[in-house]
Amino acid sequence: MIVLGIETSCDETAVGIVDGDRNILANVLYSQIKEHLAHGGVVPEIAARAHVQVLDPLIRAALEQAELELCEVDAIAATCGPGLIGGVMVGMMTAKAMAAATKKPFLAINHLEAHVLTARLTNNVPFPYLTLLVSGGHTQLLIAHDVNDYTLLGESIDDAVGEAFDKSAKLMGLPYPGGPIIERLAKDCTADATTRYPLPRPLLGQKGCDFSFSGLKTAMRQTIEKLPPGPLATQTMSDVCAALQSAIADILCDRVNHALPAAVAAGCKHFVLAGGVAANQFLRDQLKGTVALHGLALEAPPIKLCTDNGVMVAWAGIEHLRRGDIAQLNVAARPRWPLMELKERTTA
Ligand code: KG4
Ligand code: ZN
Repeated sequence: MIVLGIETSCDETAVGIVDGDRNILANVLYSQIKEHLAHGGVVPEIAARAHVQVLDPLIRAALEQAELELCEVDAIAATCGPGLIGGVMVGMMTAKAMAAATKKPFLAINHLEAHVLTARLTNNVPFPYLTLLVSGGHTQLLIAHDVNDYTLLGESIDDAVGEAFDKSAKLMGLPYPGGPIIERLAKDCTADATTRYPLPRPLLGQKGCDFSFSGLKTAMRQTIEKLPPGPLATQTMSDVCAALQSAIADILCDRVNHALPAAVAAGCKHFVLAGGVAANQFLRDQLKGTVALHGLALEAPPIKLCTDNGVMVAWAGIEHLRRGDIAQLNVAARPRWPLMELKERTTA
């Protein structure tokens, strides 16, 4: 069973090919970071146009990397949401056209589910598991019972954690995406960075598993405004980055801690960290300690499969194809598509 997956929901154009034995046959990606650099964030129209320009050559490159002809692929999968609608349409329509032309099944993939299922490809994680999905647009704690079957334990009531990284980076004059740069700079911090730049931990210790990051962003702005005017000194920047990263780690660990009893009761033995922010090694280390106290093992995909990629879409395609969960060619692209709605799709 071989599936080709297309991802175009944000600023990466990506194609992956995966087989049912968990082998990654191809992984090609074009990052549009340079196109968006001058704008300080992703511009939807620029993203959609760039996807159109590079997607066809990327599909050819992926087939070449896998040493396959298109007729040897069993199904075509594409992200159909949530995401920037213009970009989603580009990938989805291309996949539908390929499926129609080759008479292969078309698989409509939810981008969030693709992130959450990646650890089953890379780490062979069995259901059920507790998962923290941390990306540029989402922060959610879920129990993954099965494909299409998720229970939401908590989510951000304002900004996503990736946004907290990206907006803080912007405040410091650092380019998008902020997460990787903040992580790199934080490594060179001084020992007292977190006490010198005290930052709030919204909702810490409070009931439930929801998150809040907007107060942290405001505190970051106030912290930066108090610094001497002009470009920030490198050491100051490193220390502020470390203070931010440490506040985010404390918030995530506290919320996960609150979710653990429900996860253990549901039979979860694994904790899966998923989404672009899961690429952060400091956060991985901190969360590993938190879940270990409840006897859970932390599983996270390799760094390059945490951020958006085509392999995760292809793998989600394998999971759906196995269940015969094939989409009609008239399914619509969805800018919003909560994971919890997947169950309705299967029971409808
Ligand atoms: O999953 P993803 O590639 O795209 C979305 O679906 O949103 O996640 C992108 C987010 C961005 O906010 C980026 O700053 C963050 O992931 N990110 C990181 C790291 N690498 C990417 N955040 C913290 N540390 C990192 N190393
Ligand atoms: Zn993503």
